[in-house]
Amino acid sequence: MPVTLVIGSQWGDEGKGKIIDYLAKDSDFVVRFHGGNNAGHTIVNKYGKFALHLIPGGIFNLNTKAVIANGVVIDLSVLLSEIELIEKTGIKVRGRLFISPRCHLIMPYHKLLEQVYEEAKKGKNTPQPTGRGIGPVYADKVTYNGITLGDLLDKKSFKEKLTVQLLIKNKILKPFGKNLRKDSVEKEFFSMRRKILPFIADTFTMINSAIDKKQKILLEGAQGTFLDNDWGVYPFVTASNAVSGGANAGAGIAPQKITKVLGVAKAYTTRVGFGPFPTEQKNGIGEKLREIGGEYGATTGRPRRCGWLDLEMIRFAVKINGFTGICITKLDILDNFEEIKVCVQYRLNGKPIKYEQCSTKEFGKVKPVYKTYKGWRKSIKEAKSFRDLPREAQIYLRDIEEMVGVKITYVSTGVKRNEIIKI
Ligand code: IMP
Repeated sequence: MPVTLVIGSQWGDEGKGKIIDYLAKDSDFVVRFHGGNNAGHTIVNKYGKFALHLIPGGIFNLNTKAVIANGVVIDLSVLLSEIELIEKTGIKVRGRLFISPRCHLIMPYHKLLEQVYEEAKKGKNTPQPTGRGIGPVYADKVTYNGITLGDLLDKKSFKEKLTVQLLIKNKILKPFGKNLRKDSVEKEFFSMRRKILPFIADTFTMINSAIDKKQKILLEGAQGTFLDNDWGVYPFVTASNAVSGGANAGAGIAPQKITKVLGVAKAYTTRVGFGPFPTEQKNGIGEKLREIGGEYGATTGRPRRCGWLDLEMIRFAVKINGFTGICITKLDILDNFEEIKVCVQYRLNGKPIKYEQCSTKEFGKVKPVYKTYKGWRKSIKEAKSFRDLPREAQIYLRDIEEMVGVKITYVSTGVKRNEIIKI
């Protein structure tokens, strides 16, 4: 299948990194198309352990090219330090990493604005952003105030745009005791300019010619369906489109060219930041999931909120993204549970209600209807095929398939690359 898109079916952190890493080894290109360094995945390989936030994980496969397409927002200093980190291992990055000049740059004022907004909101109606300036940079993009990587090519135009933006941004920042100097921002960016120039490329032509040549492209979604700016639980969302539709604009690929859409779902649910979470377990079960699952943010280190698998969410994710298959990750985390619950329906005021029918307030009030499964109480790490899994785990997986109406194509049973079952 030439073009495969991988999308998170929950609130991010579904274990997409592992699936991407597994699929990247057979891909000619791995492409990021939205979000920025709010995303993060840890990669463990023969070169060491790496926390990457911007560069697609495929960079470690020497036959794979990595693309940061137009929809991604870039913090240049983070990107340059990731390039340096990888180059230190002896892996060549030049000629293998390509970045669209259309990418918007996260400027120092975007991070400060995010702090100021958070301060003003005093913890109300905020998703508790990652502090990377993601909301403000996308806001500037849609209000025609952004500065792109391409602008940095033309020093004069960059200077002009920066002057206007600092005039406005400093006015907002000043009452909060913050101020940015034009000369120091300019100096910082011009010093990074030379280093990033060799990576700037026409990624549209590159990707579309590869598609014409039937090469394999892997599109790496970040965050997850319920953090999508349109379809997530607004305002507890991120600033980009994390659903499959975001890939068309964000990577510059026509919809019908995408041949497979894989949804990644953890065998339970987690989220970081505020916002309603119907199946959350604020009890020993939630703590057990967090501890066994190592549920602490890869980008911020924050403890993740944990709860049971929510099939009403996955059902919606299947619809909005058009999944052709589902990957269930971290099934092994449930190895030691006596019983396992799954939400099969929401009820509001005693009546069934679907996710898409709920306002954010109503979503905060829905009562999950659970189906209870007997746990398998043994390690599944050694399982190499579906038939190797304990009967209880097979029932759990088959039921999920039946309820959401899409085949499970992969089951991840551990952190290592080979701890995965292809169904
Ligand atoms: P932002 O994307 O930094 O603006 O944060 C908005 C919301 O999205 C916050 O609740 C973050 O915790 C969440 N978020 C952003 N990126 C990720 C991710 O990669 N995994 C999980 N949550 C994320």
